[in-house]
Amino acid sequence: MGRMKFLVTAGPTREPIDPVRYITNRSSGKMGYAVAGAARHEGHEAVLISGPTALDVPPGVDFIHVETAQQMYDAVRDMARDADVAIMCAAVADYRPVHVSHQKLKKSEGRILLELERTPDILASTRAEFGFNGVLVGFAAETQHLISNAREKLLRKGCDMIVANDVSLPGIGFGSAENEVTLVLPDREIQLPRESKEWLAMRIVEQALALLP
Ligand code: CTP
Repeated sequence: MGRMKFLVTAGPTREPIDPVRYITNRSSGKMGYAVAGAARHEGHEAVLISGPTALDVPPGVDFIHVETAQQMYDAVRDMARDADVAIMCAAVADYRPVHVSHQKLKKSEGRILLELERTPDILASTRAEFGFNGVLVGFAAETQHLISNAREKLLRKGCDMIVANDVSLPGIGFGSAENEVTLVLPDREIQLPRESKEWLAMRIVEQALALLP
């Protein structure tokens, strides 16, 4: 197989409330960085589009730092057209504040309400809007009905594979070094063992390459 071009999203996004506050989540970025590193290790080109993390960029990987879901959307839109494989590992914030205050909000007595709106769905836009024609891989974090929910996501977002993550299992997932996932394909499932994120990243990259025409 020749040298393929991978696009990988990773990490959380940060959705600002005011100049000193934001909404985010517990994603460490480890899975996405491992996927980009695995693709590079196999001799492919890799572009990593990542929200803020504490990780080092794997050697040889092209890196685009973003903060918000909108910035990640814009970066993926700009890079997707000439990628062969896109693997969306990022834990994109589903909601962002409707109003971003330019001044620091001052406290007062009583409660306040923060109004939130949906962010764009980057994965769902990749084939539908960005003209991406390659192998599209998404992640699903579920606490119940793992396979059926992943299958629904596979169809709805135009993916070729969903990496389904049962986040109710103890000791894996967010922040940890290991994970346990099932690869959900249109016609079958592949249950992978509990393993390091680096090992799983290699299997995900191999399986994505196997889906190339
Ligand atoms: N994703 C994305 N853009 C978003 C939200 C999610 O690209 N705005 C991608 C993630 O990177 C991941 C997949 O979509 O690949 C996760 O899908 P999502 O619908 O967010 O599912 P979950 O958060 O796993 O679960 P739920 O359906 O409960 O929201």
